[in-house]
This record gives sequence, C-alpha cells and structure tokens, in this order.
Amino acid sequence: MEKDLSNYRKSYEKHELSLKSVPENPMELFQKWFFEVDRFFPEDENNAMTISTIGLDGFPKSRVVLLKKYTFEGFIFYTNYNSEKGTAIKANPNVCLTFYWSGAERQIIIKGTAEKISENLSDGYFESRPRGSQLGALASDQSDVIANRDELEQKLKQLEAEFEGKEIPRPKYWGGYIVKPKEMEFWQGRPNRLHDRIRYILQENYDWIINRLSP
Ligand SMILES: Cc1cc2nc3c(=O)[nH]c(=O)nc-3n(C[C@H](O)[C@H](O)[C@H](O)COP(=O)(O)O)c2cc1C
Repeated sequence: MEKDLSNYRKSYEKHELSLKSVPENPMELFQKWFFEVDRFFPEDENNAMTISTIGLDGFPKSRVVLLKKYTFEGFIFYTNYNSEKGTAIKANPNVCLTFYWSGAERQIIIKGTAEKISENLSDGYFESRPRGSQLGALASDQSDVIANRDELEQKLKQLEAEFEGKEIPRPKYWGGYIVKPKEMEFWQGRPNRLHDRIRYILQENYDWIINRLSP
C-alpha cells in the first residue's frame, strides 16, 4: 500500500506570539489560549489532551484523556490508577501533555510530573459524574485483556442490579492525577514554516525562564 501525502500543505496565518506579549506565568497564557479556543471553537473537544508516559518496557506511550480542571498548580485528569498509564506513572511520574488546537493553529507541550490528587477531590468529581459513567468505571479493569464485549456488558448489567437505588462508591483504583508543569512550550503556526515557539522553564526559585525557540 502507498499513499503520497506530500501535497497536504497548510499555511498557518491566524495569530502570532511574541516574547514581549507573553505573561510571566505560563498558566496565564494557557488560560488565555484555552478561553480563545473555547470561545471560537465551542464544538471542538478543546479539553482533550495527549498524555505520554514512559512504560515499564522503556517505550513512550501516548493517549488522549480529558482535562477536567486546571489551576496555577497544574492540570487534572481522571483515570484508572491500575491502567497501563497508571502503572507507568507509578514507576516514573515524568509525563508530557500535548494540546493541539487545529482551528487556532496552536500547540502546547507540557513536561511535568504526575501525582494522585486527594481522595476527597476524586470523590467529589466521581459523585458529579452521570451514573452510567460511574458504573462504567466499576465495570472496566482498564487496559486488561478481555475475551469479548459481551463480558463487559454482562458485568455492567450485574453492577446495575447490585447498585439499584444505591449510591455508587468511587472505586479506590479510580481517581485523578495532577500534572505539575516544569516546562511549557507554546507553538503558534506562522506562514512559511517560521512558526512562533515560546518556551517557559521553571527555576528552583519558582520563577519561569522564558525563551523563543527556532521553529
Ligand atoms: C477524546 C478521548 C477522551 C478520553 N478521555 C479519557 C479520560 O479522561 N480518562 C481515561 O482514562 N481515558 C480516556 N480516554 C481513553 C484513553 O485514550 C485510553 O484509551 C485509556 O485511558 C487507556 O489507556 P492506557 O491503557 O494507556 O492506560 C479518552 C480517549 C479519547 C479519544
């Protein structure tokens, strides 16, 4: 099989990013960009982000998860702590997050460390989820091999019966992580492949060093 994609070419012309215009704290720039994509592209899943971990096999693995909250401290998402990503994070908490917002021709790459959030916070979010999603979290041993889809649906039915009329408790193996950034790079597509790249690196005194990178 062969398919030549060399003619797929887009010119990026929508925005620009200059060192003079950026705030001292990258979370403020994240917030500005997030507000903008959310306002102009509300149909898109703008909180979808790719998280890359280093697995026990030494390979990086990336997958999409949903950002559920951000603060000056970092980025929170929810998952199964026993999943492949959970196992990877336990052994090596260094992760990379990527947002790609094609409508705005923007990418943000974040290197940071992941840690579990408090049980209370995970409880609060779990309680806010629709019942179906709560049962789904209980039904799925995420990343384990299963025989077929039927097995999963049978398990869901069993759980529906077991918890009928009852509150569904958050399973201990399901909860949130916060990724605390150490480095954040903002990429703005520009014409002629001369894109703008501004990188922030966190110093020991918690100041951020800001540099422009060559595209
Ligand atoms: C748009 C989208 C959103 C997703 N959101 C989540 C999420 O918030 N949490 C999660 O555990 N998996 C989410 N997934 C599924 C993950 O990509 C992945 O399949 C799953 O977490 C298992 O990954 P692992 O086996 O590498 O741990 C999402 C997938 C997509 C495409």
